[in-house]
Amino acid sequence: MTDRPTAGIKPRLVVLVSGGGSNLQSFIDACAEGSLNAQVAAVISNKAGVGGLDRAAQVGIPNIAIDHRAFDSREDFDKNLSELIDSFAPDLVVLAGFMRILTPDFVNHFLGKLINIHPSLLPAYPGLHTHQRAIDAGDSEAGATVHFVTPELDGGPSVLQARVPVLADDSAESLASRVLGFEHKIYTAAVQWFCQGRLCMENGNAILDGKSLPEQGVIFSD
Ligand code: GAR
Repeated sequence: MTDRPTAGIKPRLVVLVSGGGSNLQSFIDACAEGSLNAQVAAVISNKAGVGGLDRAAQVGIPNIAIDHRAFDSREDFDKNLSELIDSFAPDLVVLAGFMRILTPDFVNHFLGKLINIHPSLLPAYPGLHTHQRAIDAGDSEAGATVHFVTPELDGGPSVLQARVPVLADDSAESLASRVLGFEHKIYTAAVQWFCQGRLCMENGNAILDGKSLPEQGVIFSD
């Protein structure tokens, strides 16, 4: 990993995906239009043939599939993955729908430079099927949270959270689609804060502009 982003040089993002890559697309678009002062240095997926790799290829960003099934253990995969990421000298590693549980060694190697978006109002609903769980519980709000990654699954300090009403006739799919629109906004905003040197993680806390953020992070408002 490189040190903190240097003034005048665009911070380098390595984006990890496992699927369609709509969050990745929002980074690509924001970099192109200048609202995100960064460059996507590489896109890496644990699955070949996914939309996220195609999106990178379309704009000439290096894109690589590294199939976790080709490795004997989670540790072995994560070691190879971290070496591959390091070869692109990232300032920030961005998990954008990367559907793998990461080993503590991997997380600790990138600690403070590893960020994720999770489709729930963390600390509610870590893990999978977040929208269905929110509907089943009768929640009035769902949403998404950008957080730094620590070894605890979906447990690192929150940076930015978007709250989205659950409608009476929502299915998991309709809710997911509405939340995804907000994900694109909050994820690019949080990554821009990091690239501007405004956001960091210190002693397990998310710090924005020198101040510790509350447990749920900043609450996004349009
Ligand atoms: C997003 O909803 C993201 O929050 C979720 O995967 C989707 C990826 O969409 N991530 C997780 O569930 C991680 N635990 P995308 O490929 O269109 O960006």
